[in-house]
Amino acid sequence: MGRVLSVASECVPLLKTGGLADVVGALPQALAGQGWEMRVLMPAYRSVLPQAKGWPVVWSDPDLFGGPARVLAGMVAGISMLLLDAPHLYDREGGPYSGPRGDWPDNDIRFAALSWAGAAIARDGLADGWRPDLLHAHDWQAGLAPAYLAYSGAAVPSIMTIHNVAFQGFAPVSQLAALRLPSDQYYPDALEYFGGLSSLKAGMITASKITTVSPSYAGELRRAEFGMGLQGVIMSRATDVSGILNGVDTDVWSPENGPHPYSARAPKGKTLARAALCAELGLDVPGPLGIIVSRLTDQKGIDLIPQIAANFIAAGGGLAVLGSGDAALESQMRALEARFPGRVAVRIGYDEDLSQRLFAGGDAVLVPSRFEPCGLTQMYGLRYGTLPVVAAVGGLADTVITANPAALAAGVATGITFHPTDAPAFDLALQNLIRLHGDSKTWAQMVKNAMRHPVGWEESAARYAQLYAGLTAA
Ligand code: ADP
Ligand code: GLC
Repeated sequence: MGRVLSVASECVPLLKTGGLADVVGALPQALAGQGWEMRVLMPAYRSVLPQAKGWPVVWSDPDLFGGPARVLAGMVAGISMLLLDAPHLYDREGGPYSGPRGDWPDNDIRFAALSWAGAAIARDGLADGWRPDLLHAHDWQAGLAPAYLAYSGAAVPSIMTIHNVAFQGFAPVSQLAALRLPSDQYYPDALEYFGGLSSLKAGMITASKITTVSPSYAGELRRAEFGMGLQGVIMSRATDVSGILNGVDTDVWSPENGPHPYSARAPKGKTLARAALCAELGLDVPGPLGIIVSRLTDQKGIDLIPQIAANFIAAGGGLAVLGSGDAALESQMRALEARFPGRVAVRIGYDEDLSQRLFAGGDAVLVPSRFEPCGLTQMYGLRYGTLPVVAAVGGLADTVITANPAALAAGVATGITFHPTDAPAFDLALQNLIRLHGDSKTWAQMVKNAMRHPVGWEESAARYAQLYAGLTAA
Protein backbone atom coordinates (compact mmCIF):
# COMPACT_ATOMS: atom_id res chain seq x y z
CA MET A 1 0.00 0.00 0.00
CA GLY A 2 1.43 3.39 -1.03
CA ARG A 3 1.15 6.50 1.11
CA VAL A 4 0.19 9.97 -0.04
CA LEU A 5 0.31 13.28 1.80
CA SER A 6 -2.40 15.55 0.45
CA VAL A 7 -1.87 19.26 1.22
CA ALA A 8 -4.74 21.75 0.92
CA SER A 9 -6.27 24.82 2.51
CA GLU A 10 -9.74 23.32 2.95
CA CYS A 11 -11.35 19.91 3.35
CA VAL A 12 -14.91 18.71 3.92
CA PRO A 13 -16.28 18.31 6.56
CA LEU A 14 -13.89 20.61 8.49
CA LEU A 15 -14.00 23.69 6.29
CA LYS A 16 -15.40 24.46 2.85
CA THR A 17 -15.61 27.56 0.69
CA GLY A 18 -15.96 25.71 -2.62
CA GLY A 19 -15.60 22.49 -4.57
CA LEU A 20 -11.92 22.21 -3.62
CA ALA A 21 -12.95 21.12 -0.13
CA ASP A 22 -15.33 18.49 -1.49
CA VAL A 23 -12.64 17.01 -3.68
CA VAL A 24 -9.88 17.05 -1.05
CA GLY A 25 -12.30 15.38 1.38
CA ALA A 26 -13.41 12.75 -1.13
CA LEU A 27 -10.00 11.66 -2.43
CA PRO A 28 -8.85 9.71 0.67
CA GLN A 29 -11.78 7.30 0.53
CA ALA A 30 -11.70 7.10 -3.27
CA LEU A 31 -7.98 6.31 -3.26
CA ALA A 32 -8.26 3.86 -0.36
CA GLY A 33 -10.28 1.72 -2.74
CA GLN A 34 -7.25 1.75 -5.03
CA GLY A 35 -4.80 0.71 -2.32
CA TRP A 36 -3.48 4.16 -1.41
CA GLU A 37 -3.40 5.47 2.13
CA MET A 38 -3.88 9.24 2.14
CA ARG A 39 -3.50 11.76 4.95
CA VAL A 40 -4.71 15.33 4.51
CA LEU A 41 -2.67 18.25 5.90
CA MET A 42 -4.57 21.52 6.37
CA PRO A 43 -4.39 24.52 8.70
CA ALA A 44 -6.06 24.30 12.10
CA TYR A 45 -8.07 27.49 11.67
CA ARG A 46 -9.79 28.82 14.80
CA SER A 47 -13.06 27.08 13.87
CA VAL A 48 -11.26 23.81 13.14
CA LEU A 49 -8.87 23.49 16.09
CA PRO A 50 -11.48 22.30 18.65
CA GLN A 51 -11.84 19.14 16.52
CA ALA A 52 -8.28 18.20 17.39
CA LYS A 53 -8.78 18.04 21.16
CA GLY A 54 -6.57 15.34 22.62
CA TRP A 55 -4.93 14.44 19.32
CA PRO A 56 -1.24 13.52 19.50
CA VAL A 57 1.44 15.90 18.22
CA VAL A 58 3.22 14.23 15.30
CA TRP A 59 5.38 17.10 14.03
CA SER A 60 6.57 20.40 15.39
CA ASP A 61 8.69 23.39 14.51
CA PRO A 62 9.70 26.09 17.03
CA ASP A 63 9.75 28.74 14.30
CA LEU A 64 7.41 28.20 11.39
CA PHE A 65 7.52 31.59 9.70
CA GLY A 66 7.45 33.60 12.89
CA GLY A 67 6.02 31.39 15.60
CA PRO A 68 5.81 27.87 16.99
CA ALA A 69 3.79 25.27 15.14
CA ARG A 70 2.73 21.68 15.59
CA VAL A 71 0.80 19.10 13.61
CA LEU A 72 -1.93 17.10 15.32
CA ALA A 73 -3.10 13.78 13.91
CA GLY A 74 -6.58 12.31 14.12
CA MET A 75 -9.62 11.02 12.27
CA VAL A 76 -12.57 13.11 11.10
CA ALA A 77 -15.43 11.44 9.25
CA GLY A 78 -13.17 8.57 8.20
CA ILE A 79 -10.46 10.92 6.90
CA SER A 80 -6.99 10.75 8.40
CA MET A 81 -6.33 14.44 9.12
CA LEU A 82 -3.15 16.31 9.97
CA LEU A 83 -4.01 19.72 11.37
CA LEU A 84 -1.32 22.38 11.35
CA ASP A 85 -1.71 24.40 14.53
CA ALA A 86 0.21 27.68 14.22
CA PRO A 87 -1.69 30.30 16.23
CA HIS A 88 0.27 33.26 14.83
CA LEU A 89 -1.04 32.32 11.35
CA TYR A 90 -4.41 30.63 11.75
CA ASP A 91 -5.97 31.54 15.11
CA ARG A 92 -8.04 34.45 13.80
CA GLU A 93 -11.64 35.54 13.66
CA GLY A 94 -12.88 35.30 10.08
CA GLY A 95 -12.58 33.06 7.05
CA PRO A 96 -9.63 30.97 5.88
CA TYR A 97 -8.49 33.58 3.38
CA SER A 98 -9.96 36.83 4.61
CA GLY A 99 -11.01 38.73 7.70
CA PRO A 100 -13.31 41.66 8.31
CA ARG A 101 -11.07 43.96 6.27
CA GLY A 102 -10.59 41.72 3.22
CA ASP A 103 -7.86 39.21 2.39
CA TRP A 104 -5.38 38.57 5.19
CA PRO A 105 -2.32 40.65 4.22
CA ASP A 106 0.03 37.78 5.15
CA ASN A 107 -1.70 35.07 3.09
CA ASP A 108 1.55 34.40 1.23
CA ILE A 109 3.29 33.56 4.52
CA ARG A 110 0.29 31.70 5.97
CA PHE A 111 0.21 29.24 3.08
CA ALA A 112 3.96 29.12 2.63
CA ALA A 113 3.93 27.75 6.18
CA LEU A 114 1.39 25.09 5.23
CA SER A 115 3.52 24.15 2.23
CA TRP A 116 6.72 24.14 4.30
CA ALA A 117 5.20 21.75 6.83
CA GLY A 118 3.95 19.56 3.98
CA ALA A 119 7.37 19.39 2.37
CA ALA A 120 9.08 18.69 5.70
CA ILE A 121 6.68 15.85 6.50
CA ALA A 122 7.08 14.39 3.00
CA ARG A 123 10.86 14.50 3.39
CA ASP A 124 11.34 13.42 6.99
CA GLY A 125 8.11 11.70 8.01
CA LEU A 126 6.08 12.09 11.20
CA ALA A 127 6.83 11.24 14.81
CA ASP A 128 4.44 8.30 14.58
CA GLY A 129 6.63 6.75 11.90
CA TRP A 130 4.35 7.60 8.97
CA ARG A 131 6.20 8.73 5.89
CA PRO A 132 4.55 9.38 2.53
CA ASP A 133 5.77 8.06 -0.82
CA LEU A 134 4.32 11.08 -2.60
CA LEU A 135 3.09 14.62 -1.95
CA HIS A 136 -0.11 15.81 -3.62
CA ALA A 137 -0.54 19.61 -3.52
CA HIS A 138 -3.86 21.34 -4.25
CA ASP A 139 -4.08 24.88 -5.64
CA TRP A 140 -1.82 27.85 -4.90
CA GLN A 141 -2.07 27.51 -1.14
CA ALA A 142 -0.06 24.29 -1.37
CA GLY A 143 1.96 25.36 -4.41
CA LEU A 144 5.19 25.97 -2.54
CA ALA A 145 5.23 22.41 -1.16
CA PRO A 146 6.58 20.83 -4.38
CA ALA A 147 8.99 23.79 -4.64
CA TYR A 148 10.40 23.38 -1.12
CA LEU A 149 10.76 19.63 -1.78
CA ALA A 150 12.56 20.19 -5.07
CA TYR A 151 14.86 22.94 -3.77
CA SER A 152 15.88 20.83 -0.78
CA GLY A 153 16.92 18.08 -3.15
CA ALA A 154 14.48 15.57 -1.69
CA ALA A 155 13.63 12.61 -3.91
CA VAL A 156 9.94 12.47 -2.95
CA PRO A 157 7.77 12.88 -6.09
CA SER A 158 4.97 15.43 -6.11
CA ILE A 159 1.79 16.32 -7.96
CA MET A 160 0.41 19.83 -8.38
CA THR A 161 -3.35 19.83 -8.94
CA ILE A 162 -4.91 22.99 -10.33
CA HIS A 163 -8.52 23.41 -9.23
CA ASN A 164 -8.75 26.98 -10.44
CA VAL A 165 -5.96 28.85 -12.22
CA ALA A 166 -7.64 32.18 -11.48
CA PHE A 167 -6.14 32.05 -7.99
CA GLN A 168 -2.36 32.15 -8.35
CA GLY A 169 -0.91 33.21 -5.00
CA PHE A 170 0.86 36.30 -6.30
CA ALA A 171 3.45 37.98 -4.08
CA PRO A 172 5.94 40.78 -4.72
CA VAL A 173 9.55 39.78 -5.37
CA SER A 174 10.53 41.50 -2.13
CA GLN A 175 8.98 38.48 -0.37
CA LEU A 176 11.44 36.02 -1.91
CA ALA A 177 13.59 35.61 1.22
CA ALA A 178 10.63 35.79 3.62
CA LEU A 179 9.06 32.92 1.69
CA ARG A 180 12.31 30.97 2.06
CA LEU A 181 12.79 30.69 -1.69
CA PRO A 182 16.26 30.52 -3.28
CA SER A 183 17.25 33.78 -4.98
CA ASP A 184 19.24 31.91 -7.64
CA GLN A 185 15.94 30.48 -8.87
CA TYR A 186 14.51 33.91 -9.57
CA TYR A 187 14.45 34.05 -13.38
CA PRO A 188 11.68 33.79 -16.01
CA ASP A 189 11.81 30.03 -16.56
CA ALA A 190 11.75 29.44 -12.83
CA LEU A 191 10.21 31.47 -9.98
CA GLU A 192 9.82 34.85 -11.67
CA TYR A 193 6.20 35.70 -12.55
CA PHE A 194 5.32 39.06 -14.07
CA GLY A 195 7.96 40.75 -11.98
CA GLY A 196 6.86 38.98 -8.82
CA LEU A 197 6.20 35.50 -7.51
CA SER A 198 3.36 33.03 -7.82
CA SER A 199 3.00 30.04 -5.52
CA LEU A 200 0.98 28.25 -8.16
CA LYS A 201 3.65 28.78 -10.81
CA ALA A 202 6.30 27.61 -8.33
CA GLY A 203 4.36 24.40 -7.83
CA MET A 204 3.78 23.95 -11.54
CA ILE A 205 7.46 24.21 -12.44
CA THR A 206 8.73 21.99 -9.63
CA ALA A 207 6.12 19.24 -9.27
CA SER A 208 6.77 15.88 -10.93
CA LYS A 209 3.36 16.03 -12.61
CA ILE A 210 0.58 18.57 -13.02
CA THR A 211 -3.06 17.65 -13.05
CA THR A 212 -6.22 19.64 -13.36
CA VAL A 213 -9.80 18.66 -12.70
CA SER A 214 -11.12 17.96 -16.19
CA PRO A 215 -9.65 17.01 -19.57
CA SER A 216 -11.18 20.04 -21.31
CA TYR A 217 -9.76 22.47 -18.75
CA ALA A 218 -6.33 20.87 -19.24
CA GLY A 219 -6.63 21.84 -22.90
CA GLU A 220 -8.09 25.28 -22.23
CA LEU A 221 -5.23 26.12 -19.88
CA ARG A 222 -2.93 26.26 -22.91
CA ARG A 223 -4.75 29.33 -24.16
CA ALA A 224 -4.37 32.87 -22.84
CA GLU A 225 -8.13 33.27 -22.36
CA PHE A 226 -8.19 30.48 -19.78
CA GLY A 227 -4.54 30.14 -18.73
CA MET A 228 -4.64 33.64 -17.20
CA GLY A 229 -0.91 34.19 -17.54
CA LEU A 230 0.18 30.62 -16.83
CA GLN A 231 -0.52 29.26 -20.33
CA GLY A 232 3.18 29.33 -21.20
CA VAL A 233 4.07 27.32 -18.12
CA ILE A 234 1.42 24.74 -19.00
CA MET A 235 2.78 24.50 -22.54
CA SER A 236 6.34 24.11 -21.30
CA ARG A 237 5.23 21.11 -19.23
CA ALA A 238 2.69 19.78 -21.73
CA THR A 239 3.82 16.15 -21.49
CA ASP A 240 3.39 16.19 -17.71
CA VAL A 241 -0.12 17.68 -17.65
CA SER A 242 -3.29 15.63 -17.43
CA GLY A 243 -6.96 16.31 -16.74
CA ILE A 244 -8.76 13.99 -14.33
CA LEU A 245 -12.45 14.67 -13.76
CA ASN A 246 -13.75 15.14 -10.26
CA GLY A 247 -16.43 12.83 -8.98
CA VAL A 248 -19.15 13.41 -6.43
CA ASP A 249 -20.12 11.45 -3.33
CA THR A 250 -23.03 9.45 -4.69
CA ASP A 251 -24.09 8.35 -1.19
CA VAL A 252 -24.59 11.93 -0.02
CA TRP A 253 -25.88 13.22 -3.36
CA SER A 254 -28.62 10.74 -4.00
CA PRO A 255 -32.29 11.29 -4.89
CA GLU A 256 -33.07 8.28 -2.74
CA ASN A 257 -32.08 10.17 0.44
CA GLY A 258 -34.60 13.00 0.54
CA PRO A 259 -38.06 13.16 2.09
CA HIS A 260 -39.49 12.25 -1.35
CA PRO A 261 -37.15 9.53 -2.56
CA TYR A 262 -36.95 8.59 -6.21
CA SER A 263 -34.68 6.82 -8.67
CA ALA A 264 -34.25 6.34 -12.44
CA ARG A 265 -36.48 3.29 -12.26
CA ALA A 266 -39.10 4.87 -9.97
CA PRO A 267 -39.08 8.59 -10.76
CA LYS A 268 -42.45 9.51 -9.24
CA GLY A 269 -41.01 11.01 -6.06
CA LYS A 270 -39.48 13.82 -8.11
CA THR A 271 -42.95 15.24 -8.76
CA LEU A 272 -43.60 15.31 -5.01
CA ALA A 273 -40.19 16.85 -4.34
CA ARG A 274 -40.92 19.57 -6.90
CA ALA A 275 -44.31 20.34 -5.37
CA ALA A 276 -42.80 20.52 -1.87
CA LEU A 277 -40.02 22.80 -3.08
CA CYS A 278 -42.42 25.15 -4.86
CA ALA A 279 -44.58 25.32 -1.74
CA GLU A 280 -41.52 26.04 0.42
CA LEU A 281 -40.31 28.82 -1.87
CA GLY A 282 -43.72 30.25 -2.79
CA LEU A 283 -43.33 29.38 -6.47
CA ASP A 284 -45.94 28.54 -9.06
CA VAL A 285 -44.15 27.60 -12.30
CA PRO A 286 -45.99 26.00 -15.24
CA GLY A 287 -42.84 25.22 -17.26
CA PRO A 288 -39.37 24.05 -16.22
CA LEU A 289 -38.02 25.20 -12.86
CA GLY A 290 -34.35 26.16 -13.26
CA ILE A 291 -32.22 26.08 -10.12
CA ILE A 292 -28.87 27.72 -9.39
CA VAL A 293 -26.64 26.77 -6.45
CA SER A 294 -23.47 28.76 -6.72
CA ARG A 295 -20.96 31.25 -5.51
CA LEU A 296 -22.27 34.50 -6.96
CA THR A 297 -19.20 35.65 -8.88
CA ASP A 298 -18.10 36.72 -12.32
CA GLN A 299 -16.65 33.24 -13.01
CA LYS A 300 -20.12 31.72 -12.65
CA GLY A 301 -21.80 34.07 -15.18
CA ILE A 302 -24.44 35.09 -12.64
CA ASP A 303 -24.74 38.53 -14.26
CA LEU A 304 -26.33 36.79 -17.27
CA ILE A 305 -29.31 35.60 -15.23
CA PRO A 306 -31.15 38.96 -15.18
CA GLN A 307 -30.57 39.21 -18.95
CA ILE A 308 -32.29 35.90 -19.74
CA ALA A 309 -34.94 35.91 -17.03
CA ALA A 310 -37.77 37.79 -18.79
CA ASN A 311 -37.83 35.53 -21.88
CA PHE A 312 -37.52 32.36 -19.85
CA ILE A 313 -40.31 33.36 -17.52
CA ALA A 314 -42.55 34.54 -20.38
CA ALA A 315 -42.18 31.05 -21.88
CA GLY A 316 -43.34 29.46 -18.62
CA GLY A 317 -40.05 28.95 -16.77
CA GLY A 318 -39.14 29.78 -13.20
CA LEU A 319 -35.94 30.26 -11.20
CA ALA A 320 -34.78 29.27 -7.74
CA VAL A 321 -31.41 30.71 -6.75
CA LEU A 322 -29.29 29.79 -3.72
CA GLY A 323 -25.95 31.51 -3.38
CA SER A 324 -23.77 34.17 -1.89
CA GLY A 325 -20.82 36.22 -3.02
CA ASP A 326 -20.43 39.60 -4.72
CA ALA A 327 -22.70 42.20 -3.12
CA ALA A 328 -23.74 43.60 -6.52
CA LEU A 329 -24.78 40.16 -7.80
CA GLU A 330 -26.62 39.41 -4.56
CA SER A 331 -28.69 42.56 -4.98
CA GLN A 332 -29.30 41.80 -8.68
CA MET A 333 -30.72 38.44 -7.60
CA ARG A 334 -32.92 40.04 -4.94
CA ALA A 335 -34.22 42.51 -7.50
CA LEU A 336 -35.14 39.65 -9.81
CA GLU A 337 -37.16 38.00 -7.07
CA ALA A 338 -39.03 41.26 -6.45
CA ARG A 339 -39.69 41.68 -10.17
CA PHE A 340 -41.12 38.19 -10.75
CA PRO A 341 -43.01 37.15 -7.62
CA GLY A 342 -44.11 33.53 -7.70
CA ARG A 343 -41.69 32.80 -10.54
CA VAL A 344 -38.32 33.63 -9.01
CA ALA A 345 -37.19 32.72 -5.49
CA VAL A 346 -33.81 33.81 -4.16
CA ARG A 347 -32.09 32.69 -0.98
CA ILE A 348 -28.83 34.47 -0.19
CA GLY A 349 -26.57 32.38 2.01
CA TYR A 350 -24.99 28.96 2.26
CA ASP A 351 -27.38 26.07 2.96
CA GLU A 352 -26.50 22.49 2.08
CA ASP A 353 -29.90 21.04 3.07
CA LEU A 354 -31.76 23.54 0.92
CA SER A 355 -29.36 22.81 -1.93
CA GLN A 356 -30.34 19.14 -1.79
CA ARG A 357 -34.03 20.05 -1.85
CA LEU A 358 -33.34 22.26 -4.87
CA PHE A 359 -31.63 19.45 -6.76
CA ALA A 360 -34.43 17.04 -5.89
CA GLY A 361 -37.26 19.43 -6.80
CA GLY A 362 -35.79 21.37 -9.74
CA ASP A 363 -36.24 20.44 -13.40
CA ALA A 364 -32.94 21.88 -14.62
CA VAL A 365 -29.75 23.23 -13.05
CA LEU A 366 -28.31 26.30 -14.77
CA VAL A 367 -24.53 26.76 -14.84
CA PRO A 368 -23.57 29.63 -17.21
CA SER A 369 -19.90 29.77 -16.16
CA ARG A 370 -17.33 31.79 -18.12
CA PHE A 371 -14.79 29.16 -17.12
CA GLU A 372 -15.24 26.06 -15.00
CA PRO A 373 -12.28 23.80 -14.19
CA CYS A 374 -14.69 21.00 -13.32
CA GLY A 375 -17.87 22.06 -11.54
CA LEU A 376 -19.81 19.83 -9.20
CA THR A 377 -23.38 21.11 -9.40
CA GLN A 378 -23.96 19.91 -12.96
CA MET A 379 -23.03 16.44 -11.69
CA TYR A 380 -25.47 16.72 -8.78
CA GLY A 381 -28.02 17.72 -11.43
CA LEU A 382 -27.31 14.58 -13.47
CA ARG A 383 -27.61 12.42 -10.39
CA TYR A 384 -31.01 13.93 -9.50
CA GLY A 385 -32.38 13.97 -13.06
CA THR A 386 -32.33 17.76 -12.88
CA LEU A 387 -31.06 18.42 -16.37
CA PRO A 388 -27.93 20.56 -16.62
CA VAL A 389 -28.02 23.63 -18.87
CA VAL A 390 -24.37 24.61 -18.94
CA ALA A 391 -21.82 26.71 -20.76
CA ALA A 392 -19.63 24.44 -22.88
CA VAL A 393 -16.42 25.08 -20.94
CA GLY A 394 -14.06 22.93 -18.88
CA GLY A 395 -15.61 20.16 -16.86
CA LEU A 396 -19.11 21.29 -17.82
CA ALA A 397 -18.37 20.36 -21.44
CA ASP A 398 -16.89 17.05 -20.30
CA THR A 399 -19.86 15.87 -18.25
CA VAL A 400 -22.98 16.90 -20.18
CA ILE A 401 -24.19 15.36 -23.47
CA THR A 402 -26.06 18.15 -25.21
CA ALA A 403 -29.46 17.55 -26.76
CA ASN A 404 -28.43 18.14 -30.36
CA PRO A 405 -30.25 16.21 -33.10
CA ALA A 406 -27.59 13.48 -33.22
CA ALA A 407 -27.68 12.87 -29.47
CA LEU A 408 -31.48 12.94 -29.42
CA ALA A 409 -31.64 10.48 -32.31
CA ALA A 410 -29.23 8.19 -30.49
CA GLY A 411 -31.22 8.63 -27.26
CA VAL A 412 -28.18 9.66 -25.21
CA ALA A 413 -28.68 13.37 -24.38
CA THR A 414 -28.41 14.36 -20.71
CA GLY A 415 -28.72 18.16 -20.84
CA ILE A 416 -27.96 21.25 -22.89
CA THR A 417 -24.63 22.96 -23.49
CA PHE A 418 -24.21 26.40 -25.02
CA HIS A 419 -21.37 28.48 -26.38
CA PRO A 420 -20.15 31.16 -26.02
CA THR A 421 -21.02 32.22 -22.48
CA ASP A 422 -23.24 35.18 -23.30
CA ALA A 423 -26.88 36.15 -23.01
CA PRO A 424 -27.96 35.29 -26.60
CA ALA A 425 -26.52 31.76 -26.42
CA PHE A 426 -27.88 31.20 -22.90
CA ASP A 427 -31.31 32.49 -23.99
CA LEU A 428 -31.36 30.07 -26.93
CA ALA A 429 -30.40 27.17 -24.66
CA LEU A 430 -33.30 28.02 -22.36
CA GLN A 431 -35.73 28.17 -25.29
CA ASN A 432 -34.51 24.66 -26.18
CA LEU A 433 -35.09 23.64 -22.60
CA ILE A 434 -38.68 24.90 -22.76
CA ARG A 435 -39.22 22.96 -26.00
CA LEU A 436 -37.77 19.73 -24.64
CA HIS A 437 -39.73 20.08 -21.41
CA GLY A 438 -42.91 20.25 -23.48
CA ASP A 439 -42.08 16.95 -25.17
CA SER A 440 -42.73 14.61 -22.28
CA LYS A 441 -41.37 11.47 -23.94
CA THR A 442 -38.03 13.03 -24.85
CA TRP A 443 -37.82 14.73 -21.46
CA ALA A 444 -38.39 11.47 -19.59
CA GLN A 445 -35.70 9.80 -21.68
CA MET A 446 -33.22 12.59 -20.93
CA VAL A 447 -33.96 12.42 -17.21
CA LYS A 448 -33.32 8.70 -17.29
CA ASN A 449 -30.08 9.16 -19.26
CA ALA A 450 -28.90 11.83 -16.83
CA MET A 451 -29.57 9.70 -13.76
CA ARG A 452 -27.70 6.79 -15.29
CA HIS A 453 -24.65 8.84 -16.22
CA PRO A 454 -21.80 7.81 -13.89
CA VAL A 455 -20.67 10.70 -11.66
CA GLY A 456 -18.93 8.77 -8.86
CA TRP A 457 -15.22 8.64 -8.16
CA GLU A 458 -14.41 5.11 -9.42
CA GLU A 459 -12.90 5.92 -12.79
CA SER A 460 -11.05 9.05 -11.68
CA ALA A 461 -9.69 7.39 -8.56
CA ALA A 462 -8.21 4.71 -10.80
CA ARG A 463 -6.56 7.43 -12.89
CA TYR A 464 -5.01 9.11 -9.84
CA ALA A 465 -3.85 5.72 -8.63
CA GLN A 466 -2.21 5.07 -11.98
CA LEU A 467 -0.43 8.43 -11.81
CA TYR A 468 0.73 7.77 -8.23
CA ALA A 469 1.97 4.31 -9.18
CA GLY A 470 3.93 5.67 -12.13
CA LEU A 471 5.64 8.28 -9.97
CA THR A 472 6.50 6.08 -7.03
CA ALA A 473 7.75 3.17 -9.15
CA ALA A 474 10.20 5.49 -10.92
P1 ADP B 1 -16.60 26.27 -7.06
O1 ADP B 1 -15.68 25.44 -6.26
O2 ADP B 1 -15.93 26.99 -8.18
O3 ADP B 1 -17.44 27.18 -6.24
P2 ADP B 1 -17.96 23.75 -7.66
O4 ADP B 1 -19.16 23.50 -8.50
O5 ADP B 1 -16.78 22.91 -7.88
O6 ADP B 1 -17.63 25.31 -7.82
O7 ADP B 1 -18.30 23.55 -6.13
C1 ADP B 1 -19.20 24.34 -5.42
C2 ADP B 1 -19.71 23.55 -4.24
O8 ADP B 1 -20.27 24.44 -3.29
C3 ADP B 1 -20.80 22.58 -4.59
O9 ADP B 1 -20.75 21.51 -3.69
C4 ADP B 1 -22.07 23.43 -4.38
O10 ADP B 1 -23.20 22.66 -4.16
C5 ADP B 1 -21.66 24.19 -3.15
N1 ADP B 1 -22.34 25.48 -2.97
C6 ADP B 1 -22.05 26.65 -3.59
N2 ADP B 1 -22.83 27.64 -3.13
C7 ADP B 1 -23.65 27.09 -2.20
C8 ADP B 1 -24.68 27.60 -1.35
N3 ADP B 1 -25.03 28.88 -1.37
N4 ADP B 1 -25.30 26.74 -0.50
C9 ADP B 1 -24.95 25.43 -0.48
N5 ADP B 1 -23.98 24.91 -1.25
C10 ADP B 1 -23.33 25.72 -2.10
C1 GLC C 1 -12.60 24.99 -8.20
C2 GLC C 1 -13.31 25.16 -9.55
C3 GLC C 1 -14.41 24.15 -9.78
C4 GLC C 1 -13.98 22.75 -9.36
C5 GLC C 1 -13.46 22.78 -7.92
C6 GLC C 1 -13.00 21.41 -7.43
O1 GLC C 1 -13.28 25.63 -7.18
O2 GLC C 1 -13.82 26.48 -9.70
O3 GLC C 1 -14.75 24.13 -11.15
O4 GLC C 1 -15.06 21.86 -9.46
O5 GLC C 1 -12.36 23.64 -7.84
O6 GLC C 1 -11.98 20.87 -8.24
